Amino acid sequence: MALSPLQKARYDYSPKLPGMLRNGISEISVKVGAPTESAADQDKIKALFPNTYGKNEITFQKGANTSEAKKQVVGVILSGGQAPGGHNVVCGLYDALKATSRDNVLLGFKGGPSGLLDDDYIEMTDEFIDQYRNTGGFDIIGSGRTKLETVPQFEIAAKVCKRHGITAIVIIGGDDSNTNAAVLAEYMAANNTGVQVIGCPKTIDGDLKNEDIEVSFGFDTATKTYSELIGNICRDCNSSKKYWHFIKVMGRSASHVALECELETQANICLIGEEVAAKNQSLSEIADQIADAVEARGNKGLNFGVAIIPEGIVEFIPEFRKLIDEINELLAGEKSDHFNALPNWHEKYLYIDKGLSQESMAVFDLLPTNIQLQLFLERDPHGNVQVSLIESEKLFAELVKKKLDARKENGTYNGKCGFLTHFFGYEGRCAFPSNFDSDYCYSLGYNAFMLIQYGYTGYLSKVSNLSAPAEEWTAGGMPITKMMNIERRNGEDKPVIRKALVELDGGPFTYYAQHRDEWSVETCFTYPGAIQYYGPAEVCDITTRTLALEHQK
Ligand code: FBP
Repeated sequence: MALSPLQKARYDYSPKLPGMLRNGISEISVKVGAPTESAADQDKIKALFPNTYGKNEITFQKGANTSEAKKQVVGVILSGGQAPGGHNVVCGLYDALKATSRDNVLLGFKGGPSGLLDDDYIEMTDEFIDQYRNTGGFDIIGSGRTKLETVPQFEIAAKVCKRHGITAIVIIGGDDSNTNAAVLAEYMAANNTGVQVIGCPKTIDGDLKNEDIEVSFGFDTATKTYSELIGNICRDCNSSKKYWHFIKVMGRSASHVALECELETQANICLIGEEVAAKNQSLSEIADQIADAVEARGNKGLNFGVAIIPEGIVEFIPEFRKLIDEINELLAGEKSDHFNALPNWHEKYLYIDKGLSQESMAVFDLLPTNIQLQLFLERDPHGNVQVSLIESEKLFAELVKKKLDARKENGTYNGKCGFLTHFFGYEGRCAFPSNFDSDYCYSLGYNAFMLIQYGYTGYLSKVSNLSAPAEEWTAGGMPITKMMNIERRNGEDKPVIRKALVELDGGPFTYYAQHRDEWSVETCFTYPGAIQYYGPAEVCDITTRTLALEHQK
């Protein structure tokens, strides 16, 4: 494989560990903290996790290593969407495991959790692992979205572990994968398999965070990548002065990615789904809000701008949610075959008109035809509309254009601009990890091995104090059950890690709310530029604005 100059140079980067892990394996001891309780529904969670509930928080510190000497065979799995830094989690895990004993073994299960069930793995060696240090992607072993959640799956997993003498499994994943890691840990403990399970917090979406986990890995690099691109677009439109750009960014339901990109670039508009839901805003109101900014700028001769739209926005618009629910109902089961058999769009439209409530039909009629069609074309395996596939950047561009045409006729708007749309998602998920993600991920992996070595199970690898320099980071573990509550999922009560949405009284949103009036009408763009890997720490090692504002003292 031909290597780029940057890839070669990044091989030489030495990721920074938290100070407490820097003295060598023989100098890492455990400080046991307080017992824990789940975030809510304590009795129910305790009953579901009798072997792993209520364990103590732990922190590592400098001191004689008292862990038991035994051969460790660890299996690692990458689960879900790619996030920059995943390779470094594996590298950190490998380095700690081999530094403890050259006899220890790391197996990488291929293609995500299904690799464990199919017993499809590779054994990691120095030469193999060195190719992946400080690189983006999950291609070291691949990833997948199979969920490990049923007892038959756990039975197979236990058999595979027994076959290879596996002592621990590390699952690198988001909230759902780590929920499943906790359930697997409980199964392994309840059945005396001797297999420990440790999780690592991954997702570019930034929605796996709580009082223990400050940020999931990948958020830093992905948002810096999108912010570079958005900043470039800001500068382009400030140069040509003729376009408004509508940019959708990935991030699933939560708006953390959009908000971080907004704080980095100071684009004119940023929609925040959580605010839309809190204010019960309608599609038309949101379009008006954007049109107000376009109008105000246009009337000053500023016929350009940038609007950032979070991927999950439509799910937060109550009337849109209702429309989706009604469409799901309209096409449930055999009704879908009847609908699909209708000969043309006119007939289908009549069927829709008859089946939807008056309110939902009014929302449906607001939508451009291409979006109307999308609602009926793309279904998930359960037959539901796939909200994430709706091109909301195009939806809002069209709605705003309509509003402006009307305002032009009324004589309130005298500007003129073109509308361009973009979607940034996959562009950021496999970028070379920033120094922050390189360091954080390596530390998470290294730390995960220390948790294994000290016999913990059902824990999430935890590295904290991340807005300080790495030397001052702290490392340890938190029982995953501490982050859980009971939620209704697919008609059943399930123990899950609570998903973190943007907090409307939190530092990042408050800062945005204080500045957005100015940013929407004036041209206040900032241009973050590309991720810097070499140079002064204040340029290369800076954390996200989100993390800085959340932990501002
Ligand atoms: P995870 O939740 O698994 O980390 O994935 C996040 C994500 O990148 C979302 O932002 C996006 O909606 C989704 O994955 C896309 O998934 P896919 O790669 O399957 O298209």
